[in-house]
Amino acid sequence: MSSIVLNCHRWVSSIVIANGQGSGSDLELGKGLYQEHCAECHGSSGEGRNDGLVPRIQAQHYKYLLRQFQWIRDGKRRNANAEMVALLQRFDHREMKAVLDYSSRLLPAEELRAPADWKNPDFNQVLFCRTPIPFDRLATSSPSF
Ligand code: HEC
Repeated sequence: MSSIVLNCHRWVSSIVIANGQGSGSDLELGKGLYQEHCAECHGSSGEGRNDGLVPRIQAQHYKYLLRQFQWIRDGKRRNANAEMVALLQRFDHREMKAVLDYSSRLLPAEELRAPADWKNPDFNQVLFCRTPIPFDRLATSSPSF
């Protein structure tokens, strides 16, 4: 096996998948907005509600939440809850980022969390990649929103 493949394998196995979060600079605002506007449907810890078909939004990647928020607000996600669409349209840019940064930091109940040393087995395979992407380019690129 070539050293490129071996190096690539070592590199892929060393990736730690962290839950992407925002800047952390506006969490007080985010908490207030979340508890006032989102908790009644998504639950006080973002745990969602099975009976109302409300998804869990705790501990989701910040950038994923940003994209969904904008798609819901702008009508791109056409199955969205109408009451929520009207609500999200009233949020300005700062409020949107603050409430989603806060949501991404809400944690699931202890029994639903993976052990701290859990590694995604998908990354144990030997993958072939010609040009490994430098880790800093992959993991630390900041959102362009
Ligand atoms: C009236 C109830 C209600 C309120 C209030 C509400 N939501 Fe939702 N939310 C839903 C429902 C139902 C869905 C799933 C269907 C959909 O996409 O609309 C959802 C979906 C979402 C999603 C997509 C999740 C995913 O996994 O793709 C995000 C993000 C979200 N809500 C954020 C928020 C935020 C942030 C607030 C507060 C500013 C909020 N919601 C307030 C009911 C609500």
